[in-house]
Amino acid sequence: MEQKNQVTMEKIESLCKRRGFVFPGSEIYGGLSNSWDYGSYGVQLKKNIKDHWWKFFVERRDDMVGLDAAIIMNPKTWESSGHLANFSDPLIECKECNHRSRADQIPGIDVKMKEGGLGLSYSISLEAKCPNCGKSNFSEPSIFNLMMETGIGPVHLGGLYFNAGMFENSGEKDKKREVILKINKAAVYLRPETAQAIFVDFPNIISSTRKKLPFGVAQIGKSFRNEITPGNFIFRTREFEQMEIEYFFNPKKDDWNKLFDELKLSMEEWMVSVGISKEKVHAVEIPDGERAHYSKRTIDFEFEYPFGQKELFGLAYRGNYDLSQHQEFSGKDMSYFDSETNEKVIPHVIEPSLGVDRGLLAILLSSYQEEELGEGDVRIVLKLKPTIAPVQVAVFPLLKNKPELVAKAREIYDALKMEWRAEFDDNGNVGKRYRRQDEIGTPYCITVDFDSLEDGAVTVRDRDTMAQERVKIADLKAYLLDNLNK
Ligand code: GAP
Repeated sequence: MEQKNQVTMEKIESLCKRRGFVFPGSEIYGGLSNSWDYGSYGVQLKKNIKDHWWKFFVERRDDMVGLDAAIIMNPKTWESSGHLANFSDPLIECKECNHRSRADQIPGIDVKMKEGGLGLSYSISLEAKCPNCGKSNFSEPSIFNLMMETGIGPVHLGGLYFNAGMFENSGEKDKKREVILKINKAAVYLRPETAQAIFVDFPNIISSTRKKLPFGVAQIGKSFRNEITPGNFIFRTREFEQMEIEYFFNPKKDDWNKLFDELKLSMEEWMVSVGISKEKVHAVEIPDGERAHYSKRTIDFEFEYPFGQKELFGLAYRGNYDLSQHQEFSGKDMSYFDSETNEKVIPHVIEPSLGVDRGLLAILLSSYQEEELGEGDVRIVLKLKPTIAPVQVAVFPLLKNKPELVAKAREIYDALKMEWRAEFDDNGNVGKRYRRQDEIGTPYCITVDFDSLEDGAVTVRDRDTMAQERVKIADLKAYLLDNLNK
């Protein structure tokens, strides 16, 4: 079979919408920029990716435990972690069209945070052009915090900010102070990463699990960032899911280089196991000066997307920065008592951090294929790994108006759906049903025909080779067990 054109983002977006993997959020109201909803196959694929990750990194290992913490945490968390002060991007506005961009993403603009986070130093060359209108007339860049703020309790933060501004202008300082106190009491943040809860909960985790170092804590959940330039479909959004691990160890006893390499290898193995194309992934070492000051080593796994090679996942050695910060700000002991050395230690961590949505996009881009079948006929197929495919087996009666075929197909479907993700389909001709399942990525289709009623066998069609073979109904489970677990 001849491979056709390369995959593009337009093709992936169109397939996702057509088949109900992902579609624009709130579409009937004109959408909400860069918000996406996962439809029936998308939510199943996403769940399978997360389940597979959980099995791979948590259930099959003795040295990992799980956590599912609240999205809204005590705001002190973000003060301690440094997010309130430093989790920001440089924002620049075009004076011609008012388009806002990330200054560090425009060629010709050099922008850096000043020492100690006190403002920005920058230079704008004549080559710098607004990505919207192409003109070169910019405002001064400013620091824009990416934290998503909301209020708890019966307050309206917007109204309070408005009042604070009014009292500032009218010179009523006492009233302004009162309003600011109210804001401080009510303002909370949607977490920008799942990781911090793992640090904050560390004392409860060690006392309840009694795990010995080294061990990891894993968490999957939503994170929120007020990104200045979201885009490229589900690549960069303001609301996304992360799968993160904090792997704690004693720096006096454990070799961090070895642990780092082991976790890197596990991430690479996992990526292959979910069908992310190995050739398109590049482990990029982040050089000194570009890493966080507390990190001894950071790797970005970058992927060759159609819009360029960009970050997919990250792996970072974070020292004991986070636990130490939380110890200082909370006044609580965040150390671990090592009974072998009789010493207290604030563990160090290595953090594998994976975006679910970005992972799903990389899987779709790796598995999308167009095949030329002759006479202008092109087959679109998602060659998803059977372990994560939203549907693993589809069952068809050859004709929908033949009750005896429908009854037999239903009987087979009912038996298979207890063990695999199965779908019953009697819509349109069988050829069309195959093509629909190819686009969903279903590895096997089973057709019940008139011969099935006589010989107790069905036609099983393989997604990748399109080969068909007769399999006895009695042997179907063994057949699928063999083939779906490959
Ligand atoms: N705790 C470390 C941390 O959050 P990060 O590099 O900022 O590190 C980790 O994020 C991963 O989360 C990224 O590698 C990416 O897969 C995903 N991610 C980050 N921002 C995202 C966004 N705006 N939209 C979708 N995924 C995002």
